[in-house]
Amino acid sequence: MNNSKNIARFLFGKGAFDELGSLVQPRRKTKDDYFVFLLDHFFRDSKMECRLPLEDQDLLLYVSTLDEPTTDAVNTLNRNIIDRKKKLPVSLVGIGGGSTLDTAKAVSNLLTNGGRAEDYQGWDLVRVPGIHKIGVPTLSGTGAESSRTCVMTDPLRNLKLGMNSEHTLFDQLVLDPDLPLTVPRSQYFYTGMDTYLHCIESLQGRCRHGLADAYSREALRLSREVFASEEMQSGANREKLMIASYLGGCAIANSLVGLVHPFSAGLAITLKLHHGIANCIAMDALGEFYPEEVGEFRSICEKQQIDLPRGVTSRFSDNDFERLYASTIIHERPLANALGEDFKSILTPEKVKEIFSRM
Ligand SMILES: [Fe+2]
Repeated sequence: MNNSKNIARFLFGKGAFDELGSLVQPRRKTKDDYFVFLLDHFFRDSKMECRLPLEDQDLLLYVSTLDEPTTDAVNTLNRNIIDRKKKLPVSLVGIGGGSTLDTAKAVSNLLTNGGRAEDYQGWDLVRVPGIHKIGVPTLSGTGAESSRTCVMTDPLRNLKLGMNSEHTLFDQLVLDPDLPLTVPRSQYFYTGMDTYLHCIESLQGRCRHGLADAYSREALRLSREVFASEEMQSGANREKLMIASYLGGCAIANSLVGLVHPFSAGLAITLKLHHGIANCIAMDALGEFYPEEVGEFRSICEKQQIDLPRGVTSRFSDNDFERLYASTIIHERPLANALGEDFKSILTPEKVKEIFSRM
């Protein structure tokens, strides 16, 4: 039985970001105590940067989110902090979308556990709690703010996998629905759909329990309302999607995803597609496993006038398909959650190729 853990503290509501200083200040006990702010590079030189409760001794580091987090990028940030300071930070604040939040969680674990990011990719490999960490999402949907993982790709090992551990959970969240105000429409949609898919996959899985189901059902209800709306990015809908994202993250912290995420990981490894869009492309090709849900997903895309990219694997060689198979089938837990322990008898290399060929 899972001895589940969720986020201990959160500030929620319009203007919550202005309270960040009141969370930071009490943790500064001596003059060497410093904070690390990891900021999505999207906010470089922005108004957001001016609103940070920064002091001279703090480190402000930018996280490039052009590509999704890699183990190398996490190792480099970790090294950067260790090389520049004599002691560890009192806290680490991650501000940005899922990639920045995942990077903050991974760096926090690495600072106290030592070694390299790739040493902890898997389940419950993180030995001791990381540095105290505060998550401030500026984009809703990934659930990175409330999940117990931080996904990174390791291109050398053909692997996209997180440090799945209760130590990965943030200690504190600041959830301000005004922060995603400037997100481009398609990014808002693709990232928001991540939460819808977490819940669909969790509710269709074998590893279920009532509490995770309750989180999923409410997150699904809210995301359906957002995506059925004429103005999905209104203030009220930004708030609903922020709640849905948080609840969806709690749901998968207590259960597992299913088929969409492993197939999406394959696309991320081979085509470097971002998580949200890769999920949607994968979902569209999985109608035989999720017939009703794929029907609903397509009508949502139509309603929101989203044209999914087509033919993304049309130029793939046999070699590419082998790589896709390897980087999908490695996700044994979610695949077994969706199809049972003998999932490999259903997802043969030929079957996986056929599914990817539909994308
Ligand atoms: Fe996801």
